[in-house]
Amino acid sequence: MITLEAENLVKTFNDKSHKREVPAVDDISFSINAGEIFGFLGPNGAGKTTTIRLLAGLYRPTSGRAKLYGQDVAIVGDRIRKDIGFLTENHGNYENLTVYENLKFFGGFYGLSNLENRIKQLLEEFGLSERQYTRVGKLSKGLKQRLALARVLLHDPKILFLDEPTAGLDPQAAVEVRVLITRLRLGERTIFVNSHNLEEVQKICDRVAIINAGKIVQIGTAAQLDNDLFGAQELSIQVKETLPANLVAELQRLTYVKSLQANHTRLTMHLVDIDVNAPDVIECLTKGGAKILEVQRARHSLEEIYLALIADTRNTAGRGE
Ligand SMILES: Nc1ncnc2c1ncn2[C@@H]1O[C@H](COP(=O)(O)OP(=O)(O)OP(=O)(O)O)[C@@H](O)[C@H]1O
Ligand SMILES: [Mg+2]
Repeated sequence: MITLEAENLVKTFNDKSHKREVPAVDDISFSINAGEIFGFLGPNGAGKTTTIRLLAGLYRPTSGRAKLYGQDVAIVGDRIRKDIGFLTENHGNYENLTVYENLKFFGGFYGLSNLENRIKQLLEEFGLSERQYTRVGKLSKGLKQRLALARVLLHDPKILFLDEPTAGLDPQAAVEVRVLITRLRLGERTIFVNSHNLEEVQKICDRVAIINAGKIVQIGTAAQLDNDLFGAQELSIQVKETLPANLVAELQRLTYVKSLQANHTRLTMHLVDIDVNAPDVIECLTKGGAKILEVQRARHSLEEIYLALIADTRNTAGRGE
């Protein structure tokens, strides 16, 4: 079931210095399934926060539509509040209130009948019980972020928007928040997460969209993006001893080897058709006396994919700033 959709969404802002409307989000479309963790990646100013605000009904689109369960968010209006939780870029806790008071205060907005129980449950789930009477201003950033996450879950929303949930956290606190996020998907909760942290997105997201200068550059699973961008025809082989030059030359002469790099005991090559050619390469190596330790279809990290895509669009379609 599709829970979130962007249909040719456009949002322009007035640029006073240039006296013109500038698109922050420029004709983007995608749909997200129930239970999916969807990562939204892009450089500063790409339009990530604007997209969340459009999807959450906090901005009206200049044109196009944001839909939640098939209904136009702009028409549904405030009724969508009960379905969504939105963790904003600056966590939004009240620093002068205690952990408990923050949850109580925000819980009041939703008119929850079992608020006390819900607060107790969230405090436990987020490891905050012992700190419930501590003023938020005294908490570490990691704990503040855990509280913010607990807060946006008070009404048990089916859709969560997380804008840079681990920005500014130390590695351990970031891992803790990440573990909490993956737990939150249980029960078919849809999670839309903006991030700059590519490793994190690769770990927790089912699919990603890469946005640059308001436009979606690519969308899919990390494996699909890898395939689209690099063709997934890269084979990497680890051998026991450095290969003799004549064997490397023999491999280079094979017509289906498009490129080859031999770095001590590591061979990396691009093939015409990996499924057909890989067994032949292995046979050639074995016949030549090489001892193979490991054969891998090379996978590119999301970071490599992202950098290649962003560099590509910067070269060809930059905003010209
Ligand atoms: N309220 C606003 N008024 C005018 N311009 C805006 C407004 N909000 C965003 N913009 C502009 O729209 C563009 C996209 O901003 P947005 O905040 O969506 O980017 P982002 O991808 O979230 O960036 P970051 O990674 O820095 O959080 C930027 O050029 C920004 O300056
Ligand atoms: Mg942002």
